[in-house]
Amino acid sequence: MTELSFIHRFKPATESGRPPLLLLHGTGGNEDDLLPLSNMIAPGSALLSPRGKVLEGGMPRFFRRLQEGVFDEEDVRRRAQELADFIAQAREAYGLSAPVAVGFSNGANIAAAVLQLRPDALAGAVLLRAMVPLQDPPAVDLAGKPVLIVSGASDPIVPAENAKRLASLLTGAGAVVRHQMLPTGHGLSQADLTVTRAWIDQL
Ligand code: MLT
Repeated sequence: MTELSFIHRFKPATESGRPPLLLLHGTGGNEDDLLPLSNMIAPGSALLSPRGKVLEGGMPRFFRRLQEGVFDEEDVRRRAQELADFIAQAREAYGLSAPVAVGFSNGANIAAAVLQLRPDALAGAVLLRAMVPLQDPPAVDLAGKPVLIVSGASDPIVPAENAKRLASLLTGAGAVVRHQMLPTGHGLSQADLTVTRAWIDQL
């Protein structure tokens, strides 16, 4: 793999006209985790899949947290900038247009932070089990940016109210947000894949 600022996998597109995807794993995952899922949600897309640089008890993440659901926001801000810089490097190295992020859990949270801090880095985002990453985000213009948030109604980590607040923050910034609540918990289900695939197909 090309030497860029994150350990990552890159797979070139096998079909033209599909948006490149930036795959962002959950806590304890790595750059291989979401590759099989991406075949189901966007076959043929170029794939860029970095490994989070923060280790929590040996488990890779994209930013530090103080405890479950309580984030080190200074680190969130720094890591979101670092990830956006990596996206720019990778776009240049691999000749990609701005990717659509597909993040799960911690990966969804860093994607939401990138939207709020470096909106030009992403063409859109699928946020699976996301929560509000920054309590006091800067004003940002997300005019027309497509965002799909898929939440679990019985998610023990992300209260439904928190996911709704994220949806309204992004909507308030101008993003075109679809927020789907599924009758499930924090883990991904077949319904996540179906909803995500249909949403990516209409981009
Ligand atoms: C986070 O730390 O980003 C969230 O609590 C989700 C998780 O990774 O468990």
